[in-house]
Amino acid sequence: MTAPLAFEIHRMKETPSTNIVAKDLARQTGKEGIVVIAETQTQGRGRGKKDWASPAGGLYLSVTLNAASPKHLTDLPLLAGVAVCQAVTQLLPKQFDVSVKWPNDILVGMKKVAGILCETVEGALGVVGIGINVNTGAEPLLPFMRNSFKATSFTLECGGGAFDLTKVSDMVLKKLSGIYDIYRSEGFPAVRYLWEKNCQLVGKKVEFTESPTQKQVGTLLGIDDTGALVLATPEGEKSRFYAGEITCYWPST
Ligand code: BTN
Repeated sequence: MTAPLAFEIHRMKETPSTNIVAKDLARQTGKEGIVVIAETQTQGRGRGKKDWASPAGGLYLSVTLNAASPKHLTDLPLLAGVAVCQAVTQLLPKQFDVSVKWPNDILVGMKKVAGILCETVEGALGVVGIGINVNTGAEPLLPFMRNSFKATSFTLECGGGAFDLTKVSDMVLKKLSGIYDIYRSEGFPAVRYLWEKNCQLVGKKVEFTESPTQKQVGTLLGIDDTGALVLATPEGEKSRFYAGEITCYWPST
């Protein structure tokens, strides 16, 4: 049996990006389980070269994990998405609908509350960077309100109040460690099952945008063993997507 992941936590007041610090520590130590948490980021980065608003009140956390093979690299983002989804579900009051959105955005009431940026480090490690809008007010999120899945935060959804960020990071690490154990013992099929179970868009009609000129509408079936998103097209075929994002969904389907 593999020993559970042991975390070594580094806390910082401010940094350009916790992913950059975690990548440096990964290169220096070669260890997995190194966690970097910052109160603010000055150059928070999102997927697709987008910015990630990182004012005080959010959780900005990066962790190093084994990424010895190309398959690890495609599995880690989905695995991390499930862990964050489980953590958010546990932390928010029961009435909230929490979901993963392919590949690893976390939605609350179909609005984006968290995102994950995985990056590779030379050698056998990857860095999983997690951003959660916890006590984030409306103003820093305004530039992201026009996105197809608008930005939100714990505090905005709950109508005020402050969440304890240490409790949030502890819960994220607990869920990450749990799912990482499952992944190491049972492999990706167990993660795939949990991802689909935590995705409220399964069975819904969605629009998938691969590029500004390539869009596909279909019913979301789930993910396959490679982590690709699988849609049933109106012509009754299965389409697989490896890059791009869901840009629209029809709630009533
Ligand atoms: C996305 O949805 O586009 C991914 C956002 C990832 C943000 C986190 S915050 C911690 C880590 N450091 C970064 O600069 N980015 C990730």
